[in-house]
Amino acid sequence: MSGQAVGPRLVLATRNPGKLAELRRILHDAGTGVEVCDLDQYPQMPEVAETGATFADNALLKARAVAEYTGLPAVADDSGLCVDALNGMPGVLSARWSGVHGDEEGGLALVLAQITDVPAGRRGAHFACAAALVVPGGTEHVVEGAVYGCLTHAPRGENGFGYDPIFVPAGSELTTAEMSAPAKDAISHRGKALRALVPLIADALPGGSAA
Ligand code: IMP
Repeated sequence: MSGQAVGPRLVLATRNPGKLAELRRILHDAGTGVEVCDLDQYPQMPEVAETGATFADNALLKARAVAEYTGLPAVADDSGLCVDALNGMPGVLSARWSGVHGDEEGGLALVLAQITDVPAGRRGAHFACAAALVVPGGTEHVVEGAVYGCLTHAPRGENGFGYDPIFVPAGSELTTAEMSAPAKDAISHRGKALRALVPLIADALPGGSAA
């Protein structure tokens, strides 16, 4: 469309349209004029192996690879469920906990089975997210967000994904799979981490400052 201003460009290291929409919403709400695209614009880019020991390591790995491939500032996130009774696992292995990458139902069933005998007072868990910003030839930042709560004995709710049906945030009676998307976004680990990254994005991208 002619005459439409295009702001500074940023690539989000994902092919998940939900994540792209969430970052766009957060940047828009913060009044930044930063244009974001995702890896659908770069179909040839190879997958980046998530070999890091921490969420921050993995977020940085992905953001560095995308910044190098595209030559543009890149944002990446990595997240997972950390269960107290499992010493913080599945953690960075959340997406492959059943042994099959992306088998979300299998991972949830395995976590529930592993903590079957753990009583209510020791079913604490949190979702954690690290979000990284890498500017080619420039700065690197990593910020983190978390939401604390506990695990149910059986799945409840149809919304969300992954471990949402067994996670009840502190102060709520609902699992995150029983919450609406905006209600979950407002308290979520990913929302917190991405919102913490916004001022760093605005500083790093000339012309992208908050209005
Ligand atoms: P990723 O960081 O988006 O790749 O998430 C890794 C894995 O962590 C997902 O496959 C889910 O199993 C789990 N996970 C991360 N965030 C959430 C969430 O908000 N709800 C439920 N599961 C999540």
